Amino acid sequence: MVFKQPNEYEFEQVKQLVKEFWLDDLDMQPQQFSVLSDNGKVIAFGRLREHADATELCTMGVTKGFQKMGYGEKMVQHLQSIAKRDVFLVTIIPDFFSQINFKIVNTYPDSLKKKVDRCSADFHVGETYNVMKWELGTHPQPPLYL
Ligand SMILES: CC(C)(COP(=O)(O)OP(=O)(O)OC[C@H]1O[C@@H](n2cnc3c(N)ncnc32)[C@H](O)[C@@H]1OP(=O)(O)O)[C@@H](O)C(=O)NCCC(=O)NCCS
Repeated sequence: MVFKQPNEYEFEQVKQLVKEFWLDDLDMQPQQFSVLSDNGKVIAFGRLREHADATELCTMGVTKGFQKMGYGEKMVQHLQSIAKRDVFLVTIIPDFFSQINFKIVNTYPDSLKKKVDRCSADFHVGETYNVMKWELGTHPQPPLYL
């Protein structure tokens, strides 16, 4: 399997999975996304969204039946490998991302503040929204193929 931009058919699957997992669906463009796909079936997906003040990793998931097999971690590593600057994200599962060199931060760009406000207003979950940051160059390059 190879990391690639989704084709039209794969992007339709991504949109379905985003609904299923209740993920951030704002301004979704196929070119923001990377997918791992097996003969056209999307196994994992995620995107880097460029804001004026930051790069954000968001809208990532692994298809049910393929979770806990390492694909999520590999997807994050892939997105780190193509990022051009430090990467921020907002999450309720910091333990997953801290294994991949992200650290919780208390100061962050305005675009992330808006994201936290939006999540807190629109998605009432019991857990806290954490902002995390990965600094460019602080992770070894992952393999491009699985
Ligand atoms: C969260 C998600 C992307 C993780 O992907 P995955 O392929 O299942 O995870 P991996 O197999 O790569 O896990 C890597 C490590 O993270 C841990 N991990 C996985 N999911 C975790 C979670 N929800 N919380 C904390 N740790 C987690 C694994 O146990 C594993 O640790 P180990 O190496 O010590 O065993 C996936 O479960 C998913 O799609 N969830 C639903 C959508 C979602 O929550 N997206 C993230 C929004 S921020």
